[in-house]
Amino acid sequence: MTQTASSTSTGRTFLLEPATALSGTVRVPGDKSMSHRSIMFGGIAHGVTEVQGFLEGEDSLHTLEAFQAMGVRIERGGAGEVTLYGQGVEALSAPTAPIYLGNSGTGMRLLTGLLAGMNIPATLTGDDSLTGRPMRRIVDPLSRMGASILTADNGTPPLIIQKAGSLNGIEYTCPMASAQVKSAVLLAGLHASGTTTVHEPAITRDHTERMLRGFGVEVEVDGLTASIRGGQSLTATSLTVPGDISSSAFFLVGASMTPGSKLVLTGVGMNPSRTGVIDILRLMGANIRISNERLTGGEPVADLEVEGTRLKGIHVPEELVSLAIDEFPALFVAAAAAEGETIVTGAEELRVKETDRIQVMADGLRALGGDISDTPDGAIIRGKRLTGGTADSCGDHRTAMSFSMASLICDGPITVLDCDNVNTSFPGFVQIAGDAGLHITESRGAAGA
Ligand code: S3P
Repeated sequence: MTQTASSTSTGRTFLLEPATALSGTVRVPGDKSMSHRSIMFGGIAHGVTEVQGFLEGEDSLHTLEAFQAMGVRIERGGAGEVTLYGQGVEALSAPTAPIYLGNSGTGMRLLTGLLAGMNIPATLTGDDSLTGRPMRRIVDPLSRMGASILTADNGTPPLIIQKAGSLNGIEYTCPMASAQVKSAVLLAGLHASGTTTVHEPAITRDHTERMLRGFGVEVEVDGLTASIRGGQSLTATSLTVPGDISSSAFFLVGASMTPGSKLVLTGVGMNPSRTGVIDILRLMGANIRISNERLTGGEPVADLEVEGTRLKGIHVPEELVSLAIDEFPALFVAAAAAEGETIVTGAEELRVKETDRIQVMADGLRALGGDISDTPDGAIIRGKRLTGGTADSCGDHRTAMSFSMASLICDGPITVLDCDNVNTSFPGFVQIAGDAGLHITESRGAAGA
């Protein structure tokens, strides 16, 4: 896969002086996966949906704008408050211009399934990263349902969804563990004839299934199989989006790996299909205490208290990979801090994220003085103190924030290049990370060029 802009970037650069520990209380922004879905489902529901805790990051805002472009009235109130005045699927109009989804694979893949099912023609496009990402993984099953979707020659965006009549439900066995593929097929199935069933090879996040139920849709789940009956309509609801465990992960790692750290993360989404990062850090010896567990809108939420310690290397159990898929960039930094060797296998999906995250993390950690060998499906990381230097995030939000946390285990300063996309998932990261103990500033232009 081609990378986005690299060392030639003139965008946002993070500058970090070595730091020793994280402390205090952190509340991270709303969950990105749930924020996308709240707009998609509120946008096609009947009635007024009120969303609290919506992530006002670029990715989920692109989804919001897409629904506005299709005629849905959406109002934004104070921080994280969104009101959608849904009038059902029938009220949506085909967009008159291509829909730009920025950096967001979730936005593109889920919207494609939804629009194909509703038989709404549209062209979907995105930034350099998104237009290099594989889309056959959704186009193939959707075509089997009767959809007509064109891609570029190599199966990448733009995606052109053509009018194709109504779809037929299918039974689909997903070749890779992907909540986006599962969701695209289920959302197409929502408006297809008969029942649509998806079998998965491993557990992936189930926000689609849970949130659809909140909107009154029947979704059957049996182990790794989810089914939806076509022809169901959504009834508006109110929902609160919890803090994003994927955004919390940088702080969980930063605090876990530094003796002297004492950090509390409040209101973190604890959906069991997302908590692999806690399990993996605990296997490495981390002290993470879960408290104040509660349920919000069908999703578990808790506060997390972390006390820093010296982590130890492990072979990450493969069954935890899909439960922590977005947290590996941060976990690679935890591994760089740990005593001994950490081995990651079965994580080849990391190569088709916003960047090839195995490559970008391996190159960046090596540039900072780390000892890491990349493998086709993971990496072998030998813990050692880092020296500092320049790491290129290659425009990937999660690698940029992970390299920032490396300043906690580093003797010299770190420069992280190409950090604009941190705003896709974590607006306010620099402020929050600085308050928690990182010595982080940012600059634009020359310093990062
Ligand atoms: C997501 C699913 C995951 C994840 C992404 C969000 C979702 O992608 O990496 O950040 O909201 O469904 P895959 O389904 O491609 O693994």
